Amino acid sequence: MTDQAELVRRLRAAGCVFAEEEAEILLESATGDDLEGLLARRVAGEPLEQVVGWARFAGLRVKVRPGVFVPRVRTERLVEVALAHHPRPEVVVDLCCGSGALGLAFLVGVEKSIELHAADLTAEAVDCARDNLEGRGEVHRGDLYAALPDHLRGRIDVLLANTPYVPTSALGLLPPEARLHEPTSALDGGADGLDLARRVLAEANDWLAPGGAVHIEASDDQAPTLVDHAVACGLHAEVDGSVVTATRSTQPRSPRR
Ligand SMILES: C[S@@+](CC[C@H](N)C(=O)[O-])C[C@H]1O[C@@H](n2cnc3c(N)ncnc32)[C@H](O)[C@@H]1O
Repeated sequence: MTDQAELVRRLRAAGCVFAEEEAEILLESATGDDLEGLLARRVAGEPLEQVVGWARFAGLRVKVRPGVFVPRVRTERLVEVALAHHPRPEVVVDLCCGSGALGLAFLVGVEKSIELHAADLTAEAVDCARDNLEGRGEVHRGDLYAALPDHLRGRIDVLLANTPYVPTSALGLLPPEARLHEPTSALDGGADGLDLARRVLAEANDWLAPGGAVHIEASDDQAPTLVDHAVACGLHAEVDGSVVTATRSTQPRSPRR
């Protein structure tokens, strides 16, 4: 039997900075006599959230599993910005949903019932998001908008999109927990990190409802480039901390020639 002090000592020896908090979470999450097994995985460098099977996000316990991106505390801001921007939406989409944490947090935070859709490229993420949403939203698999049912075209009020945004050349600088234990497809955003975000913006006008907005997380360096791209795509764009919000005009669009 491993007591809490011994757990803290072994976690600290393995380089875990928040050893006390991690020990508490391991003790709380262990069932039966699997504590040693969980500790061994954590000490070997697996992210705590993948070891225990859940992550704290916006006050919620979100299920995660190996092969699925662990939702980050900084991304809670994206949900807050989206809720403030559009408090009474009808249709909400969580694109690049991973565990589905953003859509779930939006669903819990919004004051009314919504039609929620989530989508991701990988089967692991789609399964995990279905687990988390428990039937309160539809989860689709595919490449960005290609995953979505056509009836959502022009109807999305809120589009949450935490696209992968690490520049390819910086992948090697990530902490080992991300580099070795999260899929590259969840991290790699191409040469300047914005390949996926640009693609999301390029089609946003077709999918957003009039007045609808897409909210994308970016680094401080990337945000101005993303704003310029959003404007070039005919959207109104603004930055709030790490979140770029790009809004479709409320005016009807002129018919395509
Ligand atoms: C940074 S993670 C964000 C996950 C989740 N939204 C969150 O914040 O916790 C990016 C996600 O985008 C997904 N992804 C990468 N390329 C994609 C694509 N072309 N189409 C759809 N999803 C994609 C990855 O599988 C991964 O789950």
